[in-house]
Amino acid sequence: MVSLSVKVRLLSGQDMWTLPAVPELGVPEPIVMSDGPIGVRGTQWTAGDPSIALPSPTALAATWDVSLAQRVGRLLGQEARRKGVHVLLAPTVNLHRSPYGGRHFEAYSEDPVLSGAIGVAYVRGVQEHGVAAVVKHFVANDSETDRFTVDVRVSERALRELYLAPFETIVREGGAWGVMAAYNAVNGTTMTEHARLQREILKGEWGFDGVIVSDWGAAHDTVAAMVGGLDIAMPAFGSPWGDALVDAVRSGDVPESLVDDAVARVLRLYERVRAKRDLPTVDGVALAREVAARSFVLAVNDGVLPLERGARIALIGALAKDARVMGGGSAQVYPAKTVAPVEAIDAVYAIGADPRTKLPPAPGPFVARFIGTSYEATLPDGEARWMELPDGLMPEAVTLSGRIAASRGGTHELAIRGIGTFSLTAGGRTLFAGTIEPDSGDPAAVFLSPPERRFPLELAAGEEVEVVVRHEVAIPLISFALGHGEPVGTPEELIDEAVAVARAADVAVVVVGTTEEVESEGFDRTTLRLPGRQDELVSRVARVNPRTVVVVNAGSPVELPWVDEVAAVLLTWFPGQEAGNALADVLFGESEPGGRLPTTWPVSASDSPVLSTTPADGVLSYSEDIFIGYLLWQRGDTTPRFAFGHGLGYTTWEYLGLEIEGDSARVTVRNTGVRSGREVVQVYVAPREPDDTRPVRWLAGFAVAEAGPGETVAVAIPLPERAFQVWDSGWRTVPGAYLIEAAHSIDDRRLSASFHPR
Ligand code: BGC
Repeated sequence: MVSLSVKVRLLSGQDMWTLPAVPELGVPEPIVMSDGPIGVRGTQWTAGDPSIALPSPTALAATWDVSLAQRVGRLLGQEARRKGVHVLLAPTVNLHRSPYGGRHFEAYSEDPVLSGAIGVAYVRGVQEHGVAAVVKHFVANDSETDRFTVDVRVSERALRELYLAPFETIVREGGAWGVMAAYNAVNGTTMTEHARLQREILKGEWGFDGVIVSDWGAAHDTVAAMVGGLDIAMPAFGSPWGDALVDAVRSGDVPESLVDDAVARVLRLYERVRAKRDLPTVDGVALAREVAARSFVLAVNDGVLPLERGARIALIGALAKDARVMGGGSAQVYPAKTVAPVEAIDAVYAIGADPRTKLPPAPGPFVARFIGTSYEATLPDGEARWMELPDGLMPEAVTLSGRIAASRGGTHELAIRGIGTFSLTAGGRTLFAGTIEPDSGDPAAVFLSPPERRFPLELAAGEEVEVVVRHEVAIPLISFALGHGEPVGTPEELIDEAVAVARAADVAVVVVGTTEEVESEGFDRTTLRLPGRQDELVSRVARVNPRTVVVVNAGSPVELPWVDEVAAVLLTWFPGQEAGNALADVLFGESEPGGRLPTTWPVSASDSPVLSTTPADGVLSYSEDIFIGYLLWQRGDTTPRFAFGHGLGYTTWEYLGLEIEGDSARVTVRNTGVRSGREVVQVYVAPREPDDTRPVRWLAGFAVAEAGPGETVAVAIPLPERAFQVWDSGWRTVPGAYLIEAAHSIDDRRLSASFHPR
């Protein structure tokens, strides 16, 4: 008989990322977890342990391609195996309820059908490797403001039809082995303790036989969480399990059978993840490039794209040089190499406008040495971060040394971003020795986005200096960065310079986007405007060059006030490590921009039917009920900037036929252009009799059609029973006549047919 305390050991983290080995229970090794979702970071959270960085989840959803999502999952399974990770904390399938959601970039869509379909494929791919996927964050964690405490008030119908729906699909069809309980409360009960949602619905009704893992630090109450259905409490720090759980069982507050069930679930997890599977190797860099190109949404094109090779290009924008390849927060990974647009496109470059408020990490290599130990690591740039110190080492200090080269003469700026005691020397001269205090009381914010101090340094053009930062290590975690900024002109001069460069070119490609201060974890957005002077930059460039292509490097919607002034707009999301190569592929027509919008883009934030994410007295009321995203846009008079499903390719399509065959729609399309292409065929369902209690139309399914010029192809798209049901104390099919519509996007419906569900 295994003792209670041994069983309980298996249920809580022994550190930040692992469950302990419990040989008495047949688990001879720790079970290792890692974030997710665009790569597998591993346990150390450091550039010293690089990972493939794929495009943001919004980008993956924009491909509308389940077989591509499954290949992505396979690559991540492979990465997890390479890094000794058994459990991947992904995918994130919360919905795009408001464009202000800080982690919007990390979730798929405003639509539960699209989210569920992409999620199923991703999970299957990951789990083929015997790596568990943990679908998160269960449930209604659709924004970040007061995320640890917010109480989301939402109707049962909206939960069932929207917020639970992707989880249900992924659990039932994808067979996910894990689910993460969110930080927030739903209808008065915090999610880690939510017996109705976790025990009754997830484990009971849906038959989920995997583990429920708490979000990091989300579980507090020993009895309520165990009774509420939580299995694993993460991380070690602050865990309500351990002795407290043993005591709760002994005192009779928690039946031991609940602990036994949780243990059985972890043992099942271990059985699932213990053995490595032998699968063909996926080329991660190539896949990152393919997914990026396939995700880019060509929103506007007057014919300027694709560009002819040999065109004289002006490439403009801070993000063209320092591409923002991923969103911030726990979704971050460290790619071994990032390709920026300037590296992939032959062009004359100008910054134009720099929206960043902090200096970027100095380009490396830098050597990090753990003083008092023999450990050292080479880092690609000036960012030094170890969430967990390698081999459990606790150095007295860490030094970061490398060289800074001046391509321009004048006043450079060096910066330290971090908290604690530092010294900074450049060319043997001490620029700083002292302490930097935290500027926020939120530990996550201090760790992920620490304060910055800047120091001027005069350098001549071509000069190189040795730079050393020393940081006294006070806690077993290191997080600081050495930033570097070259001398640049005033904002006015930068725009003038970009305008001059654009005027002399055949085509101006302006890369604009958001920064890490805009899209990250732990806070929501307050505006959809592009930061800094980027809007002004685009308008001024477009005035001198009618062939201006704007590349929008943002994980989620932004306002595009200049849209009618430019020749093309390409939405590239956070494109992952192959950003520049994928952009070149699409601009020059090597690849077709394959993306379609997974979420509606408004003209201005205030047009968004659901905007505010700020709770009132701790409560965030989902008073719009089942009407979010395009479901709500269709009920109003306002036209969005770009509708759900929108996206152009490099060819054109004629919709030739729509036949209903049994429970399936067969759509025939012809490629009427001169090059091969792919069309995402979307099928919407609309009740024939207007019914105020239901949306005007909704997505039932989709499929990708591929065809050469002049070719005709047909795709079959199942019409699931659920597409005709509402939640009414149970799923109920609403009988009557429906229109089945085959569409290029929700605002470009091409064919329709009548249907009566059985
Ligand atoms: C995030 C989770 C993540 C966890 C571990 C939390 O703050 O909400 O998505 O998996 O941290 O990094």
